[in-house]
Amino acid sequence: MTVNSNCSVSRRELLRAGTGFAVASVMLWPRRSIATAASDYEITPGPGRALLKGEQGPSTNVWTYNARVPGPEVRIRQGQPVRIVVENRLEEDTTVHWHGIRLPNAMDGVPGLTQPPIKPGARFVYEFTPPDAGTFWYHPHANSLQQLGRGLAGPLIVEEATPVQVDRDLLWVLADWRLDSDGNIAPGFGNPMDAAMSGRVGNTVTLNGSVPKDQDVRAGERVRLRLINVSLARIMALRFEGHVPVIVAVDGQPCDPHEPKDGRLLLAPAMRLDLVFDLQGEPGKRYAVIDDFYDGLAYELTSFAYGSQAPLRKNPPDAPLLLPRNPLPEPDLPNAERHEMVLQGGMPSMKDMMAGGKMQEMGGMPGGMAGHGRAIWAINGTSMTGDGHAEMPPLVTLKQGRSHFITMRNETAWWHPMHLHGFSFRVLNRNGAPVPHNQWADTVLLAPKDTVDIAFVADNPGDWMLHCHVTDHQTAGLMTVLRVA
Ligand code: C2O
Ligand code: CU
Ligand code: CU
Repeated sequence: MTVNSNCSVSRRELLRAGTGFAVASVMLWPRRSIATAASDYEITPGPGRALLKGEQGPSTNVWTYNARVPGPEVRIRQGQPVRIVVENRLEEDTTVHWHGIRLPNAMDGVPGLTQPPIKPGARFVYEFTPPDAGTFWYHPHANSLQQLGRGLAGPLIVEEATPVQVDRDLLWVLADWRLDSDGNIAPGFGNPMDAAMSGRVGNTVTLNGSVPKDQDVRAGERVRLRLINVSLARIMALRFEGHVPVIVAVDGQPCDPHEPKDGRLLLAPAMRLDLVFDLQGEPGKRYAVIDDFYDGLAYELTSFAYGSQAPLRKNPPDAPLLLPRNPLPEPDLPNAERHEMVLQGGMPSMKDMMAGGKMQEMGGMPGGMAGHGRAIWAINGTSMTGDGHAEMPPLVTLKQGRSHFITMRNETAWWHPMHLHGFSFRVLNRNGAPVPHNQWADTVLLAPKDTVDIAFVADNPGDWMLHCHVTDHQTAGLMTVLRVA
């Protein structure tokens, strides 16, 4: 894959791949030169089939955007307006959420909260101007457990005005599927075991829509690798045998370029990492990429397979790796308003049970909302369950324009990638120790019993979801709403 230096390539591709819209496409096309201010996309959620296990099949019934899994790459420019028409060809309501983009609340794609759901056969037009460059993604926020779990997710790349200089810009959309022996998506979404423990972790990991083969690389290349974990629940810990990546951005937001501490990259659902590699391996050799997050379940995800050509260059280029910062408002920490969010519930760990019999936590939390499923988790004692729906009262109102400092405390025995809509926040401290490298995020991973401090300026008014991105946890109560007003 080569670097897409303008939007027209991917737009044209989208139009070709669209499962309809012939008339609209023809009408829209002439308006779309690189010079026009607004760029248009058409995204059509609908049923389809995918060869997740490769050409030999079996093929799987999935839900797709534009007949593809993952959905088409939406590639737009920082600061340039975009218009995306979504036509729902599913047999149920949907929406599209632009994960990580700081956009107007009405464009955030949460049914019942920020917009009415898109009914089967209906359309909704999303329009926004991305303020930040980086690696983002899009997915539904209606019946997410099934819609995301059946394949609805796509990459959203916002290009920098001046990107880092690399030979290739690679994208790995990593997804996890629970398939039965015939290659069909296994039933049992939202079962209480998954909901109370680690969520619906699957048995088949795909990279850009199929079980990965080797990745062809050339010695001496400098590549940018964008990782997006679109899994429902699978957390990954990636190691690149014989290679040390430099992390240049987290959740789309540039950080101080740095190497991961023990060479291991944690990538929980919804998280993104932008890496730069100088490929210094030996021509003809193969280097494994290992995911060893779950104890005793390490597997080889893919590998860098070096071609036999002579190295592209002898020494790594000295072009700097620092990405231009995005226009994020810096929180005023001394004057920030303080808040605490405590994550509660789930199955207690063995240790906790021995220590004090917190078994009652398993039985369901108080405050579950009728009609949206059972509450197993809670934030500050209250549980919002299901997915986006009408009447989601805010947990707190954050004063607009002020800086807010939130301490998130994970009292549970499980990992939670906690995601806030509409903002990128500074990740300040973890368990009392400062987080280095000037890190911003929209999804922060809390290990069992972790405490994390984040801060941001509440400059974007509206009702914004805050939830765990392990979708089983979200739908079983680990979700709330923050109002900025
Ligand atoms: Cu990826 Cu509520 O979002
Ligand atoms: Cu989001
Ligand atoms: Cu969680």
